[in-house]
Amino acid sequence: MRIDIAALFPDICAAVLNTSITGRAIKEGKARLFCHQLRDYTENRQKQTDGYPYGGGPGKVMFVQPIISCYEHVLEELNPQGSIRSADESLDTVRPHVILLTPSGKPFTQADAVRLSQEENLFIICGHYEGIDERTSVLLEAEEISIGDYVLTGGELAACVVADSILRLLPGVLSAPENYEDESFWNGLLEYPQYARPAEYRGLKVPEVLLSGDHEKIRKWRQEKSLEKTQRVRPDLFENHKKAPF
Ligand code: 6GU
Repeated sequence: MRIDIAALFPDICAAVLNTSITGRAIKEGKARLFCHQLRDYTENRQKQTDGYPYGGGPGKVMFVQPIISCYEHVLEELNPQGSIRSADESLDTVRPHVILLTPSGKPFTQADAVRLSQEENLFIICGHYEGIDERTSVLLEAEEISIGDYVLTGGELAACVVADSILRLLPGVLSAPENYEDESFWNGLLEYPQYARPAEYRGLKVPEVLLSGDHEKIRKWRQEKSLEKTQRVRPDLFENHKKAPF
């Protein structure tokens, strides 16, 4: 997979994603990451990336031109010999799936991460200010995504969240697939509580069942705790699980 991120603060994304597990995946060539400075793609003398909204109102709006130029730069890299003419004479151009990060997008879920992890190329646009010129989304047929019902100063942190959740699903990035098969959201429930050494800390003991060695009993206990916690913390998920148990 190749991920291109277009942003006003690309260093945020590069710093975050080149660290820890995602950083190792990139170093090992399991994915490629390019973080683009949108200012480098401007075509006005002052290298402005945003301007006042037509119709008035507060804040600034990101210009469409630098984003399209950045996308076209990536398109050229993905298609070095231009469009390849395939056997049926149609023009075969490799086009990345375009994601536009904005608080007005569709809420991001684990199912989206799984779906997007199947893509060969992703182009992720980080919104800023009051918004992005609407024609960007139209021209690039972008999928507009939000990472939750709160407002960030910009899309960079959201891009890190989305890219991280996708990268960890790529083959060989996590040491064992079971590392994510048990976790929260994979089965629509929150994860059961976990414990490691010591068996007692400041008077708090690890539940006896986990020391028993009885794997069937442990499995049942974890399932119970998982359901209990989901009902308490996420009644919405719990209702869905009751309707369609995994
Ligand atoms: Cl994608 N961007 C911004 N600026 N704020 C957000 C968001 C995105 N998702 C939730 N809040």
